[in-house]
Amino acid sequence: MPDRDLRAWMAQLDAEGELKRITAKVDWDDEISQIIRKVYIQSGPALLFENIKDHGATFSRKLFTNGLGTQSRVNLMLGLPKDTPPAETVRTIRKRMKKPLEPVRVKTGPVKENIIRGKDVDLFEIPVPKWHPLDNGRYINTFNATVTRDPDTGQNNAGVYRGTILSKNKIGVLLMPMKDWGITYSKYQEMGKPMPVAFVYGWDPTLIVVAGSPVVGPEYELAGALRQEPVELVKCETSDIEVPASAEIVVEGFMSPDPSTYEIEGPFGEGSGFYGEARKRPVVEVTCITHRNDAIFRGSLVGTKEGVTEIRAAVSNMMSVANWNILEAHEIPGVLDVTTGPISAVKIHKTYQGQARQIAAALWGSKFAGHPFNILMVVEEDVDIRNPAALIAAMHHKVDFNRDLVVYPLYMGSPIDVHIPYDLRAELEYGAAVTSKLLIDATTDWQMHPIREEWNNQRFPPNCHYSRPETEALVEKRWGEYGL
Ligand SMILES: Cc1cc2nc3c(=O)[nH]c(=O)nc-3n(C[C@H](O)[C@H](O)[C@H](O)COP(=O)(O)O)c2cc1C
Repeated sequence: MPDRDLRAWMAQLDAEGELKRITAKVDWDDEISQIIRKVYIQSGPALLFENIKDHGATFSRKLFTNGLGTQSRVNLMLGLPKDTPPAETVRTIRKRMKKPLEPVRVKTGPVKENIIRGKDVDLFEIPVPKWHPLDNGRYINTFNATVTRDPDTGQNNAGVYRGTILSKNKIGVLLMPMKDWGITYSKYQEMGKPMPVAFVYGWDPTLIVVAGSPVVGPEYELAGALRQEPVELVKCETSDIEVPASAEIVVEGFMSPDPSTYEIEGPFGEGSGFYGEARKRPVVEVTCITHRNDAIFRGSLVGTKEGVTEIRAAVSNMMSVANWNILEAHEIPGVLDVTTGPISAVKIHKTYQGQARQIAAALWGSKFAGHPFNILMVVEEDVDIRNPAALIAAMHHKVDFNRDLVVYPLYMGSPIDVHIPYDLRAELEYGAAVTSKLLIDATTDWQMHPIREEWNNQRFPPNCHYSRPETEALVEKRWGEYGL
């Protein structure tokens, strides 16, 4: 795969017939998001909006979105055949992530073609849509990497964290103290110093996929592993943070450690399909914007009905990889497949009692626990975890609701989880939201189901929806004779 930035990625999509340019003039206020909403439902193409109201003469005039909106485009990102099934995509990502690639440091790059500093900064020059009618302004941070640097180790960290334009030079953000940048922020608060932050918009799609998932390990190295090409990094202008040299736009700034500087952030239409609430939250004051000539902005519509979004397609494989890696790190045997979603599922070859509970303990003890995935189901080989109907059938046939459900109560969760009462979603007060998690153990309980001779020495009643192989062959051969 050649070195790839946003423009090379768009060219790749174009060559595959996966990109549509919209030249009609469109309004950033609600109109763009309604177009995207309809395109999501059709599993439609990536979109480049080229003619946006009020942005004919701003430094950034175009918006690119939905580049990762389908499994086929996620496969293209990885250089795989478009029809590669998700289970295979997950295996490929796992294999590549075992070989992180050290980034290459360069002195300069296209992102330094233009440098805007101090009072010349105007975030409203960027064509950010107003994604939902009740959003608190234009959310600039929906599909970008937010990069911070640990003051003790100097390690860069990239995450995806929402943020809205509060004024020409201020971005209000949702920062959870238990997330990586939250941990870094608390170190700056202890030092009484502002935390440097860089927001990266528009680059190789692998970065956002890694940054938006609870992967363990340095994101630039892992993005390099996924794209099979090291990431080229340059230093920011106003801090030591490093950013991709061929990014479209980098916004640099500092977050004050002082809670009296916090401003109202939210509501925002979240991935749940519901609005989040407004609270006073940390603010990044922008010191500098660097950008390419004719810079393309990157964003994504998050909150939609039934959660059909670009983000779900983009990060679901990666979430499954992150969780599988956690189970591997705990040396839990027999894991055959992992999915992540409203019901996150793990398929195992069971070899001992308590294996499902061990899996739940490992995942609840990890970064995964901070995400709004509250139901974990563990099943055996006979259940297709990528088929929701099969999961429901397994719940019906294999679960005793008295013995096989485990609730982990009053535990950490995500403030975007709307079932959590308003007060318990106060992430800055509690460090995370407070919720409960559920394990559905749909594996065979060996205590309740001893081996039985009449079922070919199996524990659980075998499926009865097949005939003997010779009968199946016979019926196949005689099918024409039956007149059916
Ligand atoms: C589109 C998108 C938006 C997200 N918004 C937030 C957010 O506002 N706040 C947050 O704490 N996590 C958010 N997340 C989840 C984090 O990106 C995720 O937890 C990631 O693992 C954070 O990296 P970290 O583990 O290095 O902190 C979002 C993820 C995606 C894909």
